[in-house]
Amino acid sequence: MNVWRRLSGGRRAVALAGASALVAGGLVTLPVTAAHAATQCDVAYTTNDWQGGFTANITIRNVGDALSNWTLGFTFPDANQRLVQGWSARWSQSGRNVTAQNEAWNGSLGSGASTSIGFNGSWSGSNPKPTSFTVNGVTCNGGTTPTSPPPSSPPPSSPPPSSPPPSSPPPSSPPPTSPPPPGTKVDNPYLNARGYVNPEWKAKAESVSGGNRVSSISTAVWIDRIAAIEGTDNSQSNGPMGIRDHLDEALRQNADYIQFVIYNLPGRDCAALASNGELKADELPRYKSEYIDPIAALQGDAKYRNLRIINVIEVDSLPNLVTNTSGNPGGTVMCDTVKANGAYVQGVGYALAKLGAFSNVYNYVDAGHHGWLGWDSNFTPTAQILKEAATASGSTVNHVHGFITNTANYSALIEPYAKVTDSVNGQTVRQSDWIDWNQYNDEQSFAQAFRQELVRQGFPSGIGMLIDTSRNGWGGANRPTSAGPTTSVNAYVDGGRVDRRIHKGNWCNQAGAGMGERPKAAPASGIDAYVWVKPPGESDGSSREIPNTDGKGFDRMCDPTYTGNDRNGNSMSGALPDAPISGAWFSAQFAELMRNAYPPLS
Ligand code: BGC
Repeated sequence: MNVWRRLSGGRRAVALAGASALVAGGLVTLPVTAAHAATQCDVAYTTNDWQGGFTANITIRNVGDALSNWTLGFTFPDANQRLVQGWSARWSQSGRNVTAQNEAWNGSLGSGASTSIGFNGSWSGSNPKPTSFTVNGVTCNGGTTPTSPPPSSPPPSSPPPSSPPPSSPPPSSPPPTSPPPPGTKVDNPYLNARGYVNPEWKAKAESVSGGNRVSSISTAVWIDRIAAIEGTDNSQSNGPMGIRDHLDEALRQNADYIQFVIYNLPGRDCAALASNGELKADELPRYKSEYIDPIAALQGDAKYRNLRIINVIEVDSLPNLVTNTSGNPGGTVMCDTVKANGAYVQGVGYALAKLGAFSNVYNYVDAGHHGWLGWDSNFTPTAQILKEAATASGSTVNHVHGFITNTANYSALIEPYAKVTDSVNGQTVRQSDWIDWNQYNDEQSFAQAFRQELVRQGFPSGIGMLIDTSRNGWGGANRPTSAGPTTSVNAYVDGGRVDRRIHKGNWCNQAGAGMGERPKAAPASGIDAYVWVKPPGESDGSSREIPNTDGKGFDRMCDPTYTGNDRNGNSMSGALPDAPISGAWFSAQFAELMRNAYPPLS
């Protein structure tokens, strides 16, 4: 990942809505009749198991009084069973105990109503089902082992005598989250959907102690060379599985979606060296015929039409045409070349047109991150060049389903104690060294604002954003728990920021980083999902020169002894030592990412 930012004052910070409700405490008087009637429930728990992993689908049926909030609880019978990633509820695990609290939109559960939630889990040894469930602390099903009725099953045959039967069970009305028919294009392909687990990454993750806590998380498959289409075992970052192998395995896993990264543009990574690729700047014809066309042939195979195929399109490409061409400090000849010959714009347009032609394929174009594009001088021009690419080579904006930010970067998702709108002693914190007049100080606020800018530039209003949260967790002992002192803007921002990088321009194997939010659908307005695109544990680049046949260069930003350049404020690189080339497995980094995960790993 390469970053360049340009200073610009001017425009006032975008005001971010940050209202938080104050709830007054006080005595609550319950109507006498409600004192004991309350909660009665029926829970159905079914699983789909495969070696080491499973998906659980749970239907909670309320056979008591109407609920406005619910919390489901159960205990895994086996100590090795783990919650990995859940949906339609806020999930957590402590020891063997699992809880799922309703989301805002499904908290209200009328008498007789049911709701479906689920999670992906991992296991070893065996995967027994929990034998008892509670809702709001009350045991369901009379404490018996649940059977597996479909959501529309009748209420339990013998409700306790004191409770009336559900007044109007809705057997024929589908639950609000009922899935659309497979294969139809949906607004948010992540919603209520289970992600593909890449077995090659899973095996690497499990080679590190404790890695089984995260190894069943869905990560993207990077198609970072022509040979990766068929699969190759002589490269450091891809295994023998090719695209067809991954698609077949996704069917076998009964996954709803699979994520690929389309990453092989001519003159790739034009402003950095660590991820230079195999195609030279003038090889656009090869990009089309030897790379995109064969990928399109596989993704378009009718065999996979019920699978949602999600493509992240060309990381770190188009923004470079705005910020790293000549005229910008640090601009490179390679960025000038690929701008002048249209390799990036035409290449991205071609990929979008070809892959976006299939109804089950979803294209998300890479859109940098806040520490790169959050300055006014970069923000709108980048949105414009994204539009230019989306309408090049026969593509239209309708071939774009959305955009992704922070791919393989480390920007904090939310800075709880250092907002750009804060000021200290009458001075805006935007003038701190860390924020440096950027309009944003965290990734989610940027992604939401950039979405609006893209719509202003002509993209459909339904586009959604993804944020790569695989390595932006910033937990561990050094995570601040409050804002810094108000002695100066720098003290305030530096003392309170959770992103502990030396400089926001640092991008390679950052020391101190942790895994971020686990993948989650529809986590915030305008955001389709938090996703794990950069597989944690795969290096960003080697810390010294390592000869290789992958085209990978040595970028000093990956060298921990490097004292920097004007792109990172002449700061130390902050990179971990002893890293292998980009894409290769870096177990020491993986272990540190687990240690510093935020939210922490259980
Ligand atoms: C590398 C790719 C690799 C990807 C995912 C990139 O930085 O250049 O080769 O597949 O990261 O780890």
